Amino acid sequence: MKLYTYEKEHLDAMRALAPECAVLLKSNGAFPLSAPGRLALYGPGARHTLKGGTGSGDVNSRFFLTAEQGLKNAGFTITTGDWLDAYDDRREEAHRRFVEDIKRQAKEQHVNALMLGMGAVMPEPAYGIPLNGEGDTAVYVLSRVCGEGNDRRDIPGDFRLTETEIHDILLCNELYPSFMLVLNVGAVVDLSPVLEVGNILVLSQLGAVTGAVLADLLLGNAYPSGKLTDTWAAADRYPAMGTFGDRDDTLYREGVYVGYRYFDSVGADVLFPFGFGLAYTSFETKPGAVRKDGRSLVVEATVTNTGARPGREVVQLYVSAPWGVLDHPYQSLAAFRKTGELAPGASETVTLTVDFTDLASYDAARAVSFLEKGDYVLRVGTSSRDTTPIAVARMEEEIVIRRLTNLCGKPDTPDWKPASPVTETLPDLPVLSCSAADFEGMEFPAPAEPSERALAFAKGLTDEQLLSLAVGAHSSGIAGITSVIGSSGQKVAGAAGETYGGVPGLRALVMADGPAGLRLSKAYTKDAKGVHAVGDTLPAGFAEFLPPIALKLMSSGKQPKGTLHYQYCTAIPIGSALAQSWNPETARICGDIVGAEMERFGVDLWLAPAINLHRSPLCGRNFEYYSEDPLISGLFGAAIARGVQAHPGRSVTVKHYCCNNQETNRYQNNSILSERALRELYLRCFEVCLREGNPHCVMTSYNLVNGVHASEHAGLLTTVLRKEWGWGGLIMTDWVVYMMKSRGKHRFHSSAFAVKAGNNLMMPGSDTDDKSLRSAFRGKSRETSLSRAELERSAGYLIDLVFESTGA
Ligand code: BGC
Repeated sequence: MKLYTYEKEHLDAMRALAPECAVLLKSNGAFPLSAPGRLALYGPGARHTLKGGTGSGDVNSRFFLTAEQGLKNAGFTITTGDWLDAYDDRREEAHRRFVEDIKRQAKEQHVNALMLGMGAVMPEPAYGIPLNGEGDTAVYVLSRVCGEGNDRRDIPGDFRLTETEIHDILLCNELYPSFMLVLNVGAVVDLSPVLEVGNILVLSQLGAVTGAVLADLLLGNAYPSGKLTDTWAAADRYPAMGTFGDRDDTLYREGVYVGYRYFDSVGADVLFPFGFGLAYTSFETKPGAVRKDGRSLVVEATVTNTGARPGREVVQLYVSAPWGVLDHPYQSLAAFRKTGELAPGASETVTLTVDFTDLASYDAARAVSFLEKGDYVLRVGTSSRDTTPIAVARMEEEIVIRRLTNLCGKPDTPDWKPASPVTETLPDLPVLSCSAADFEGMEFPAPAEPSERALAFAKGLTDEQLLSLAVGAHSSGIAGITSVIGSSGQKVAGAAGETYGGVPGLRALVMADGPAGLRLSKAYTKDAKGVHAVGDTLPAGFAEFLPPIALKLMSSGKQPKGTLHYQYCTAIPIGSALAQSWNPETARICGDIVGAEMERFGVDLWLAPAINLHRSPLCGRNFEYYSEDPLISGLFGAAIARGVQAHPGRSVTVKHYCCNNQETNRYQNNSILSERALRELYLRCFEVCLREGNPHCVMTSYNLVNGVHASEHAGLLTTVLRKEWGWGGLIMTDWVVYMMKSRGKHRFHSSAFAVKAGNNLMMPGSDTDDKSLRSAFRGKSRETSLSRAELERSAGYLIDLVFESTGA
């Protein structure tokens, strides 16, 4: 395949950075191999390797190397062709049954087959294919797909391993002197039945270069330096006081005890802790000086490579808050830093800095963010289960950081909390004394308004123009959705939508999906009406569930006429993989590559990064998101934003704001949580991302938050984003929210309510949105009213973005 120069450069960059996303969970020294040789390659992911998950985040990459191809290219002789062929047959049959089953269920339930099938995981078939590949070395690639629209299930073949997988993996471990279990997964799987395996690598789903990177890692041409960003525990160990997967209501009763915040507070057994990852070498990490600098706590640590190969280590700083007004998790990640490459024997001293105000908790009874009086213990380590206490920051008195307003009402029962704090005897530690004086002169952002120039522009527009600007560019086709993914008539083929372009001086902004790269059609034709996508434009796995008429509508429906143009985009590692690098610079480089491709293909806004928290390992979109920890999620989102937005006129859209932590009935599901959990975890990801990366857009989520749709939540949109955080970017809805009327007990989204609450743009736009806004503006809506001043202000944010994007 002859690649364009930019494609080659981008793929080379991915191949160089992706290995640091891989996490080595177990190692007995058999890897890396000294040279390629005969290799027995097994497992569902050997040939059916996944580059990423399914849904809107699936990238139409033309270049992709499976594990089998990557290993062959690297010079391995695969001795298991028969096994791989036999597996193909079993899989094809299982897939056929799976699609039939979904269609049958859809018929029985009177629902659309796509809604049931989108993101659903095909159960792995059972089989007994002999493991007779020759050679001393074997690799088993376990794969798990997940995607938008469906949650994962706690069953064999999804979150758990099947009997066949367990049998084959354990047998390989016995039969072959050098055996590596490779996990080509986007989220946690329960590894408890195969823990005895000597070498386990979370390769994850690394985009276009997945197969090549596997070969590089096995041969030691690259080394893994990733760390888990989720706790990996057995299925029955996850906290069960909250609910997950209910159609109507999801109760976040675990409060702030999510992920390691829970596991470490109750001392539950985990298989591999948060922050854990081995290397091909070994390290010694020695905590160094600790000091206070105003409100900042500054910690040094020196890492030495004590092994025989090069590698990189991640130093992690956790803080335990004292119980007082509130209970607190045993510890929370406060900062982290990855070393550069350390040659054997080499050392590096890293400095980690925490602003004390970032350790604040939220007391809903007083509506304040505050710091407890008492001892905050600082711990340095290389996973949440391997930390050393190094100092105490002693808060001499309670500090109220900021008086806020409660946004969300109260859930009917209080959050779960441990009966008591973890008791431990601490060694004598240096004490850093902190008092109110350290917090004097704290400043908070001023509320964000559109610029005067944008408001003046808005004032000059007609009512008609203002109403049109609040809705994405659409035409009145069937169900008003002809502007959706992959249809013709757009400026960029395969883009997800555009803003309204009918106002002189305001060009339409083009939006394309992500987050694992830019999602566009690979080929298109162009005529006076616009561009026409050619070939596959739907995310993988969608087409088989759609009736032929819908398929026709989603593509141009005609044979391509005229010259073909190409838009080849690079599939980058999925979100959860990127975060495993624990190196935001890696994410920034990926953002930079996407930004360059946006410039090349004329995309203004990227519908990424996706930064929701991994509340449960079963959320179907966890692969797009980063972590169970809000600091990591926010910092990686910010790094992506910086990478993309360094390209003038290009913007990111951080999504899905907020509490979109499950896919089951995502349009009408109500996340019920306490104000404290909302602010300390679920808003925190966004707060960090907006503060550190200044993304230009935010996408609201479909779900409700304590009974109000996130898209129409004045507290979340106007109070938090605009007033508390002083963020002045564009707020838009998630896609076709108006038409997602699944059955359930909660009401549907209303566009008039959404604009009233502070949402600026209904995407991708439809007649229904339009009607809802017009009737509210004309005083004919039973829902709400919209004044001209409200429309002007709302349009002001969009106008600012268009000015910025177009350099006007
Ligand atoms: C997804 C978004 C995506 C949008 C546009 C929605 O279904 O939730 O993440 O950006 O579609 O494709």
